Amino acid sequence: MHPTLNIAVKAARRAGQVINRAGLDLSQIKVSVKQQNDFVTEVDRTAEAVIIDTIREAYPEHGILAEESGAAGDSEYQWIIDPLDGTTNFIHGFPQYAVSIAMAHRGVLSHGVVFDPSRNELFTASKGAGAYLNEKRIRVSRRAKLEESLIGTGFPYRAFEHVDAYLAILKDMMRKSAGVRRPGSAALDLAYVASGRLDGFWEFGLSPWDMAAGTLLITEAGGLAGDLSGESAHMTTGNIIAGSPKIFSQLLQAIAPHLTPTLRA
Ligand code: IPD
Ligand code: CA
Ligand code: CA
Ligand code: CA
Repeated sequence: MHPTLNIAVKAARRAGQVINRAGLDLSQIKVSVKQQNDFVTEVDRTAEAVIIDTIREAYPEHGILAEESGAAGDSEYQWIIDPLDGTTNFIHGFPQYAVSIAMAHRGVLSHGVVFDPSRNELFTASKGAGAYLNEKRIRVSRRAKLEESLIGTGFPYRAFEHVDAYLAILKDMMRKSAGVRRPGSAALDLAYVASGRLDGFWEFGLSPWDMAAGTLLITEAGGLAGDLSGESAHMTTGNIIAGSPKIFSQLLQAIAPHLTPTLRA
């Protein structure tokens, strides 16, 4: 394993310990509301601090972009961190949440880890070296038809301006796919696409820390991830479509007729 990926794994496992320990007694967890339907807990903050400490110990000069503490440092190396992806699930004891850590060099993703602490599943990837689940190589699914595919998504829950377009796509997808799931952790959803548990995925309005590690997992597992125009570069819109190459193009096609001018931009 590349030494940098090793640091990411160490950080993710430490954060996982924080999350698992706190998960033993959910009644003790104080929840604050950032904005409507957007929650944060001490667990998110402690997990993030543990991750940042681990990275800083190894790479004091690297830059950081983390969900709860924002951006720090200016470097061509940047770590993109979601300490707890799926906070709402965690608060409710619904075991579908993960730690997501990625490292990019000059804007290109080099390493990524998504760690599910409740199942002890560790998804890792380094650019050019493939994607792994607990050290076993993973590949995206081989299903070729949307009608046979299980598709993951995330509901809009904060910015409701795209909800009509979203619902039209959902309705179409219910008809055209074998099933649609909304597990509630985008990072883990993307890891599931990388490992073939989901054949495809779409969501609007994500943040870089939700997508960075998962995107690298998917491309290293032979899949594609892009924005609503299918472009993979940076995905600054926060809108994402992902899947095996065949399902990716069928998702793009199914979604295209429903896009509003703002979503298309
Ligand atoms: C959220 C989860 C969720 C997705 C949201 C994200 P958080 O992250 O990934 O699945 O639908 O858009 O914000 O806030 O729990 O880290
Ligand atoms: Ca959050
Ligand atoms: Ca997140
Ligand atoms: Ca989070």
